[in-house]
Amino acid sequence: MTAEQTFRIAAVPADGVGIEVVESGRAVLDALAARSNGRFAFDWTEFPWGSAYYAEHGKMMADDGLEQLKAFDAVYFGAVGWPTVPDHVSLWGLRLRICQNFDQWANVRPVEFLPGVPSSLRTADRDDLDWVVVRENSEGEYAGLGGRNLAARGAGSEVAVQSALFTETGCERIMRFAFDLARTRARKKVSSVTKSNAQQYGMVLWDEVFERVAADYPDVETESVLVDAMAAKFVLRPEDLSVVVASNLHADILSDLGSAITGSLGLAASANLNPERRFPSMFEPVHGSAPDIAGQGLCNPLGAIGSAALMLEHFGLGDEAKTVRRAIEATTGSGIRTRDVGGTSTSAEVTDAVIGHLDNG
Ligand SMILES: NC(=O)c1ccc[n+]([C@@H]2O[C@H](COP(=O)([O-])OP(=O)(O)OC[C@H]3O[C@@H](n4cnc5c(N)ncnc54)[C@H](O)[C@@H]3O)[C@@H](O)[C@H]2O)c1
Repeated sequence: MTAEQTFRIAAVPADGVGIEVVESGRAVLDALAARSNGRFAFDWTEFPWGSAYYAEHGKMMADDGLEQLKAFDAVYFGAVGWPTVPDHVSLWGLRLRICQNFDQWANVRPVEFLPGVPSSLRTADRDDLDWVVVRENSEGEYAGLGGRNLAARGAGSEVAVQSALFTETGCERIMRFAFDLARTRARKKVSSVTKSNAQQYGMVLWDEVFERVAADYPDVETESVLVDAMAAKFVLRPEDLSVVVASNLHADILSDLGSAITGSLGLAASANLNPERRFPSMFEPVHGSAPDIAGQGLCNPLGAIGSAALMLEHFGLGDEAKTVRRAIEATTGSGIRTRDVGGTSTSAEVTDAVIGHLDNG
């Protein structure tokens, strides 16, 4: 039977638990498609890029890898990094190469609390908590600008400069994205994260653009919070958050904090979006390749499955995304949980339970 709509997805599991969680996410999406009565299907192509590929070819992905990926509707990514390859080589050689060349400038990272998963947050049971971190994903501290020099002066003399890049265009587009997202949420509020007290050029420009953009959204509440204070707020007053917009580095750190307080890094989903759709967007769990638990069938697949739900939304399958999210909640609520969130189930058992709950969606 030919499906009415077929979405072509490039799977890039890469390294460590990335390989396991991508398998889980694919299984959930294929189970969903099998239940769609031919309305939609997923056509997967898997790419072997990552640290093992590097060992064989001396590079993290094929030279024409970006050209190959362009043909797809989306990229479904696992995690990259392994002790055999320096982290900056593996990250820049694959994940950042895709994000930057496909101008995936908006990185959306929801912080969601699941039934049955214990949180370290004092208020987690009392309030209906959920917020989303919107990360500027194309410049800021990860612009890759700088260099190393003066090593010839002798041992201990080398210098390194790592510059952060803030452009009005880059700041404005991510802020408008955050405000538009806030308008779709129950609490219409955007919190801007800054460090303009110490970083008087880039972050002051960030603050000024935020003020200017905010003026166009009078219906949306705003606040500007220093990144250190925001870290404290995630823990102490999370009920006051809805959309948090931050630079590349700040949002990277804050979203890990967010996922840790929901219970585990293994729960957090993420979408790297090229909102203009000139290039494929990429969906991946927030966590890394977790070499400490890789290959044992113990990792939490819910971050990757949640990322698959974000990919469904991107395809216009909003109801199906809700079905997957409800299946995730039903799974954790019924006590089927991996070890990182206090359970004893394997990754495969959690994946099967999510698939089993798709029918109740
Ligand atoms: N997006 C990415 O590809 C990405 C992101 C972060 C780190 N990395 C890379 O991953 C490697 C390991 O980095 P790290 O240890 O700092 O971060 P990590 O996210 O891999 O692991 C941090 C901790 O969280 C746990 N964890 C992570 N994912 C989990 C899951 N699905 N289920 C249960 N527990 C999970 C790990 O066991 C570990 O204790 C490095 O090479 C790093 O560069 C890649």
